[in-house]
Formats: sequence, structure tokens, C-alpha cells
Amino acid sequence: MTGALPDGSGVSRRRIRSWLASLGVDHGRIIDAQEFVARSRAVMLRFEDGTSLFLKEMDNAAGVAIDAAFRNEEAMLRLVPVAGLPVVSERAIPRLVATDPESGTLVMEGKVGFASLRELVQSSPDIPVSVLVAMASVVAGIHRTPVPDTHGRDASGLRSFGFPFASFAVLTPEQLVGGPGMDYPAYVAAMQAVDTEVDMLRRSWQPSSLVHFDLRDDNILVRENADDRPEVALVDWEMAGYGDPLLDVGTVVGQLLVQWLQTVRDTPEQLASAAAWTTVRRNAGLFITAYEHVAPLSEEQHIAVFRYAGLFALMHAAGRLEQIGSLGRIGHLCLFVGRQLLKNPQGIAELFLPSKGRSSRA
Ligand SMILES: Nc1ncnc2c1ncn2[C@@H]1O[C@H](COP(=O)(O)OP(=O)(O)O)[C@@H](O)[C@H]1O
Ligand SMILES: [Mg+2]
Repeated sequence: MTGALPDGSGVSRRRIRSWLASLGVDHGRIIDAQEFVARSRAVMLRFEDGTSLFLKEMDNAAGVAIDAAFRNEEAMLRLVPVAGLPVVSERAIPRLVATDPESGTLVMEGKVGFASLRELVQSSPDIPVSVLVAMASVVAGIHRTPVPDTHGRDASGLRSFGFPFASFAVLTPEQLVGGPGMDYPAYVAAMQAVDTEVDMLRRSWQPSSLVHFDLRDDNILVRENADDRPEVALVDWEMAGYGDPLLDVGTVVGQLLVQWLQTVRDTPEQLASAAAWTTVRRNAGLFITAYEHVAPLSEEQHIAVFRYAGLFALMHAAGRLEQIGSLGRIGHLCLFVGRQLLKNPQGIAELFLPSKGRSSRA
């Protein structure tokens, strides 16, 4: 290993410190090193001068995809200070401190005292309004920032990407049998059932802004401060690029939905009653309302957001197939609700945002 991050023998602080010095980074003695469970190797360092750094080493043995992820994240973090983002958004993104292309390591600002949104909902399923508002302001601020008219990669190296979901309409029998998990056919059936709606999203795709692309609850970090002005940080910019902002908004809404599905004990039939939706309606409704405070959405865009949220639920089910090999109760719920969101987004929109006559708004 050429980098400095822990291998089997654990973190050698002296080694990390001299490796950082070779990159021109010196904050004195390392007083704490905390390893992170991540796809990549990661460690948070605290230094005697009070600085914290987060080091993320992409495993270059994993090849091309990882290389692209490294380049995307580096390009995005480099772009942030010069992109003209609103202050709330810029502050939410870790500052890039150094990179070591040889070992594929990014050295960035460590966000100290933050917990992930995933951890937060475990203690508080009704996410505090202030947190939802902070999340929405950060995300909308990123989306509202004007971007160069770019196709492919721009000068910063950031990618511009097309609609990221494949059609399942023409799946061969081999693909069907070869898919992961025993419930794969159920997943394929759900994807095929929504093919028309997915195609509508594909056709309306507009790569018009900076997009995070992977706003899952472990990439959203929150620090609740005493003054009820929580800070939000967005990490893991491996997939970022120029894309359709509605994908990000739908991902957050889909994530709020899946978090809630993981707590419901109801059957799909019982979910038809509006009362069952209280928590997710509140969380998602407040997030969307706060987002629109900065970046208003048309009626069509609302529909697209709910469709992307549905796709997120379907992708969550696919993730379970890959990881656990079967859908389980949550996976089946995700298929059911995801399909509903794609097929009948207006109906769901009423469940989410019941009190407003949405269509009467300009
Ligand atoms: N700059 C940072 N400061 C503090 N914690 C971070 C930072 N970046 C990432 N993390 C934490 O490390 C975890 C893994 O990092 P992430 O970039 O998401 O890698 P992966 O690609 O493995 O998901 C995140 O979920 C978050 O908890
Ligand atoms: Mg992550």
C-alpha cells in the first residue's frame, strides 16, 4: 500500500503524519484517529492545533469505477470554493485540503460533532423542522447555483450525466434468471410495471444544475446546536456532476419514505389510509416546502419528484436483493409504495401535502 491509511496493523499516527507532510499538510501531533466503516478506507484525525481532517482512500484495486468516483469527488470538492454557491451550501461541503493521486486519497475538512441523518431518525422519527429546513436550504442552494453550459466534462473535470436508470422493458430470460436474490423476478415485475413512467422521467431529464446524486441518509450529516440552528453537511461526492436537480429532491423524499417504511408495521392495504402516513407526510412535506422557499417547483416538477422518490424506493428494494438475497417485508413494501409513487404521483402528493390546493399555486 502506498497510502497512509490503516491496513491490518491499524493506524500508525507517525506514518500518517509524515505522509501528510509530504503533501504539504502539517497540523502537528495527531491526538485522535477514528476509523470509519465505509466502502473506501476512511479515518478522521484530530490534531493538537484543533484541526480535524477526514481522509478517504479509494481502494484502487477495485478499478475503473473507483477511479471515476475519486475523480468526481475531487472535481466537485475543487469546484465548490469557486462555484459561487450560497454560503449555507458552501459551508455544508467539506473543504478539500490535499489529494494524493498515487494512493487515491482525498484529504478534506473533518466535520466534527455531526451525526448522520440515519442515526438521527433512530432517536427522532419526526425530524426537527429546523433540521429539515437546513437540509432543504443547503440542497436548494446547490441546485440554484448557475452552472456552465456543459456537455461531457467541464474544465473542472466534473461529469455531466444522463438519466441514470436503465429500462427493464426488454430483459432477456438469462438476465431474469441471473439477477441477484430469489425475489429478483418480483423486482423486475415492478420495474416493468413502471416502465412508461420511468420513460417520462427519462424524456424530461434536464442536466441543469450541480447534483449530489447520492443523498442517502448516511451521506447527510447533522449537527444540532444549542441555538436550534442545526448545521447540515453533505458528504460523499463520488457520484456528483451536472444532472437534473429533481433527482436529488426525489432521493431525499424517497429516503424519508424508506426510513419511515422501516418503522411501519402495517400491511400494504392499511397503508391506503391517510393516517398511516403521518410521519413521512410531515418530514417530506416540510422538506419540500422549505426547498420550494428557495427553489419553487412547478406542478410537473412535483410529480417528477414523487416519481424519483418512487424510484429510490425501488432501488432500495434492489439493494436489499443484492445484500440480503431476498426482499423481506421492507423490500416488498418498497416495491409496493415505489410503484404507487410512479403510477399515481398525484394521489401520493395529496397524501404528502394534503392541506394545500397545490394546483392553484403559481
Ligand atoms: N468530511 C467528513 N467529515 C466527517 N465525517 C465524514 C466526512 N466524510 C465522510 N464522513 C463519514 O464517513 C462515512 C463514509 O464516507 P463516505 O464519503 O460516505 O464514503 P462511502 O463512499 O464509503 O460511503 C460517511 O457516511 C460519514 O459518516
Ligand atoms: Mg457514503
